Amino acid sequence: MIFANGAGYGDFMSWLRGFRNCAAVAGPGQYSFCFRGSAVRRLATFKKKLVVLCAAAISCGSVMAAEPWMDAKLGADERAGLVLREMTLDEKLKLVFGYFGADQEGKKFKRPELSYDQSAGFIYGVPRLHIPHLWETDAGIGVASQGGPNVRRATALPSGLNTAATWDLGTAYAGGAMIGAEARAFGFNVLLAGGVNLMREPRNGRNFEYGGEDPLLAGRIVGAQIKGIQSNHVVSTLKHFALNDQETNRTTVNVKIGDAQARMSDLLALQIANEDGHPGAVMCAYNRVNGVYSCENDYLLNGVLKGDWGFQGWVMSDWGALHSTIPAANAGLDQQSGMPFDLADYFGPPLKEAVLNGWVPQARLDDMARRILRSMFAHGLVDHPVAPAPDTIDSKAHAAVSLKDAQEGMVLLKNDGHVLPLKKSAKRIVVIGGHADKGVLAGGGSSLVYPAGGNAVPGIAPTTWPGPVMYYPSAPLDAIRRHAPGAKVVYHDGADPVAAAALARDADAVVVFATQWVGEGVDARTLALPDRQDDLIAAVAAANPKTAVVLETGGPVTMPWLPHVPAVLEAWYPGTSGGEAIAGILFGDVNPSGHLPATFPASEAQLPRPVMEPEVENRRFDVDYHEGAAVGYKWFDLKGLKPLFPFGHGLSYTDFTLSGLSAGVNGGTLQASFTVRNVGKVAGKEVAQIYVAPVDAQWEAPKRLAGFRKVELKPGASATASVTVDPRLLAVYDSATKTWKVAAGTYRVILASSALDDKAVTTTVRLDAAVYDVNGRPVGSP
Ligand code: BGC
Repeated sequence: MIFANGAGYGDFMSWLRGFRNCAAVAGPGQYSFCFRGSAVRRLATFKKKLVVLCAAAISCGSVMAAEPWMDAKLGADERAGLVLREMTLDEKLKLVFGYFGADQEGKKFKRPELSYDQSAGFIYGVPRLHIPHLWETDAGIGVASQGGPNVRRATALPSGLNTAATWDLGTAYAGGAMIGAEARAFGFNVLLAGGVNLMREPRNGRNFEYGGEDPLLAGRIVGAQIKGIQSNHVVSTLKHFALNDQETNRTTVNVKIGDAQARMSDLLALQIANEDGHPGAVMCAYNRVNGVYSCENDYLLNGVLKGDWGFQGWVMSDWGALHSTIPAANAGLDQQSGMPFDLADYFGPPLKEAVLNGWVPQARLDDMARRILRSMFAHGLVDHPVAPAPDTIDSKAHAAVSLKDAQEGMVLLKNDGHVLPLKKSAKRIVVIGGHADKGVLAGGGSSLVYPAGGNAVPGIAPTTWPGPVMYYPSAPLDAIRRHAPGAKVVYHDGADPVAAAALARDADAVVVFATQWVGEGVDARTLALPDRQDDLIAAVAAANPKTAVVLETGGPVTMPWLPHVPAVLEAWYPGTSGGEAIAGILFGDVNPSGHLPATFPASEAQLPRPVMEPEVENRRFDVDYHEGAAVGYKWFDLKGLKPLFPFGHGLSYTDFTLSGLSAGVNGGTLQASFTVRNVGKVAGKEVAQIYVAPVDAQWEAPKRLAGFRKVELKPGASATASVTVDPRLLAVYDSATKTWKVAAGTYRVILASSALDDKAVTTTVRLDAAVYDVNGRPVGSP
């Protein structure tokens, strides 16, 4: 064989490399070469050899397939380096410039022909070198579509917050693997998932896309999801980098926070997700951080991400988040996304001009392209090219993945008097509100997945971006009827609270559904349920004390009616199998096991910023993160505030005890082991949480979540489990030395089932002083 890795192959390659200055043009599947200067003299010989090659039944394609960077045995860095050497300036520039994947009439923009309609993005590859195009789709809940006539219909997971509420890395991975498989089947090789902006602001309209308020939980869950996505040879992003914690004036707002405080909170969540998930790309955010836009922020991109964390993938801008050419390129941005969303094609001709003049070094452009290529090799985009085959999607199996995720993450907040589970023998069940007769709510914006069957409740404003307000056609009412075939199940839309209450009065069971729609670009202005649903719930609960409330919300809401309502289930946005998921929990076929990934405040007055700045177009203002790293329950602990429901809280239809806590230092690492026992009558799952609280040292707050374990147990069974604590969670970050420092002293180790658990078990441990590098590795270790 001419192309075996022997001398013949090497000779041929070095001969080919004699044509260095050639411009090569490629159409799909064909390779034509034009030669200049001295190369022309070699053309005849070349043609002869090519004929010989093709005659040897080796197609021109396999000539290319034998290019050294196509050797899958080589590492991604080497392959990227090899192909980069062959690329022209213009080819490199193409790779760093992204287009939107849907027409924009207002901007007179037609999507590239090769893009997929209603998609998020497209970037030209280099087919002559076997570098595929990049087809990008949103997001972390499933394969989304831009609104319009040609939406694709896919399976939606429940919201990211629900997945975080599972506290289960296996579920997060499975969800990622499922949506990654759908992305691939639709022909996409980049999924714009991996949202892990910390919930500092419970009113943030995008909280439902993220992983809650704790850096460990959020980072680990989102990391597992990214890993699942990328198991399909599809790149996942990690986003939005960084500190993009509110939608109000998101493109102009300036977040003020210190380096150490950021590293111990928002950045830590991103850091952990990056370590666990190894995303191929990171998306920088809209907002400014300490005065500088995220996508031209040298501290964030060159400093933290690429420098300190050693991120080897590429950084793409969010759609419309880029404001410059030279500052952005030199600060570490590798790719402009989604033109025409930015004001100018900064990484188009202006970047070429900047490179030709040396304002952006050629080496920087090479690095941009090399990073993109590296991820394409590392994550299998080159070796496993995508091709649309939506018919291969196993929708039934995918619905089951979404169902399982939803049921693992729904949180039973309250269940006095065992109102739940509902009895299948009930004669009369009244279901009220929330369009429960039609479907379940989804969040708005770029992450919106369009379901098979269409919007169950069309026409609710906003009907265009960031809408439409979408209800997935998975009606809880139908599912409730299926679970209680002998019952008369009646529905009332709840528009008239008095009529709804009258209907509920004599029912054996009453379930009120309450919804809160939020979305990208729209923060909830208050934590109260909208549309006077509080009045509806209060009226119904007054009429029938056995009322259960099911919440479909983007995040925490206040519950003024709580003292009068015995049972509350937080069902988040439960995805395309949501109705079935809710009914299964309500009737006890599935025992709820979700625990809150975020504190539910009693009121806005408890928040670090009780009042949000109003949205005023183009207004530039600061949001001072004066709470530093004391986010969520840490803030509540620090200030001694009692929330409505604490972080980590979640009930079950069975009871658990936590005991046998022991903690010790093993090889410098803190480990805690404990026993979980199911002391109730049905099987269930408990989320055991380990918090650590310094006795001598000073942290941003009294305690931090340091580990967790979800344990499944039959009635009467027990299990021992242990967790190993990441040293960064025991340390304070020191900006001057870029190290994590653990102070010598006594630390309380707390085993609990929430951040405010009065049955928590505590032990103490002594830690020696220790220093860890910026990535949490012992200083001095390799
Ligand atoms: C969002 C990103 C999304 C992008 C592409 C932006 O508006 O902030 O999360 O990936 O659009 O649709």
